[in-house]
Amino acid sequence: MTKGKVDALLGIVFGDEGKGKVVDVFTPRYDIVARFAGGPNAGHTIIFEGKKFVLRSIPSGIFSEGRLNIIGNGCVLAPDLFMAEAQELETAGYELYDRLHISRRAHLILPTHRVLDRALEAAKGKHRVGTTGKGIGPTYSEKASRTGLRVGDILENFEEKYKALKARHEETLRQLGYTDYDITEEEKKWMEGVEYLRRFPLVDTETEINRALKEGKRVLAEGAQGTMLDIDHGTYPFVSSSSTVCGGVCTGLGVPPSAIGEVFGIFKAYSTRVGAGPFPVELFDETGDRIREIGHEYGAVTGRNRRCGWVDLVALRYAIMVNGVTQLIMMKGDVLDTFPVIKVCVAYQKDGVTTTDMPFDTEGWQAVYEELPGWKTDLTHLTSEAEFPKEFRDYIAYLEERLEVPVTIVSVGPDRAQTILR
Ligand code: IMP
Repeated sequence: MTKGKVDALLGIVFGDEGKGKVVDVFTPRYDIVARFAGGPNAGHTIIFEGKKFVLRSIPSGIFSEGRLNIIGNGCVLAPDLFMAEAQELETAGYELYDRLHISRRAHLILPTHRVLDRALEAAKGKHRVGTTGKGIGPTYSEKASRTGLRVGDILENFEEKYKALKARHEETLRQLGYTDYDITEEEKKWMEGVEYLRRFPLVDTETEINRALKEGKRVLAEGAQGTMLDIDHGTYPFVSSSSTVCGGVCTGLGVPPSAIGEVFGIFKAYSTRVGAGPFPVELFDETGDRIREIGHEYGAVTGRNRRCGWVDLVALRYAIMVNGVTQLIMMKGDVLDTFPVIKVCVAYQKDGVTTTDMPFDTEGWQAVYEELPGWKTDLTHLTSEAEFPKEFRDYIAYLEERLEVPVTIVSVGPDRAQTILR
């Protein structure tokens, strides 16, 4: 963590890599923790002082005293869900008001955006993305088509602007033939959420962050989702709608590329994906079920089963390239403790063609594997690298050699103490 720089912590596969836990370990090193993309589709699970919290829109630095947390302009915010999340933290004794600043430029997710999300998914039939249903796609679409509402809009003539946008959404829903919905209760809560939001400093966060950088402050940009869900670089159209990559830190916080310091790429010792879309390493057998069960791979937001498979070097190499990853963080090594053989996907194959580069169309490719011996040792009680079994050390060395980036942190369990710095 360099003074006057923004370090990025990014999920580099399909999200759910365990960013929440790492941010929690990292935050004491930073002055500001900022979210730059996504919204309540994220679910960062943090266990703090024995209590479990799932953060959706609020940065994970909220648990560390004296840290400023920022929801940046690249984010989308649902006032009702934000209120519920913030009140849970307040009830647990965390004071938010002067520690959480929200960009006036972040876009608002309306209740009708969520209905549109469901309606558009239903219209796609078997081609649906399997979204989280939080209105992410419709909100970012509206941002791009320059018709959205921003957080700053709640400060002036809001009722009028809200009604006009809602009426437009209702018209679209009628055209889609999607009329069987009732948002009366939801809308009430949402309006309460808007009132609640007014209590927070709604500011120009880009100016605030750049000033802080000039003063030599350290900023951590906390990613959401993962590179393979990025709107440009993911497995389009089975992606989310924001820039989840390092470039998104610049646009989503308003900082120049020269301000970026370290880029931490976080991945699991295996792979998971929630929702539809290509996933060449997916295991449909007992091994996949065992990874899911041991790794508790069920969605933090939707509760859906996560699809599981071996680690994918094609995806990791691609993500390292587009993000400029300088350090890797490997999570959940302990989940593979009981497997006698560990497989690693080194290439994709389709119709006699083999590639190690991420193809344009990731549909229909088969994974090509190499095998390594498993460590068959309980890693969860280990506290230093010196205690790693040889096969686990070899697995990390193998990944480092092929990915050409050092693995500087290894996590071997959910607790903060089970995070080993190398
Ligand atoms: P959306 O972001 O709700 O539009 O969903 C688009 C795709 O991204 C779906 O496949 C979701 O399952 C996936 N997705 C969105 N947020 C997350 C996340 O935080 N972790 C993992 N997958 C996610």
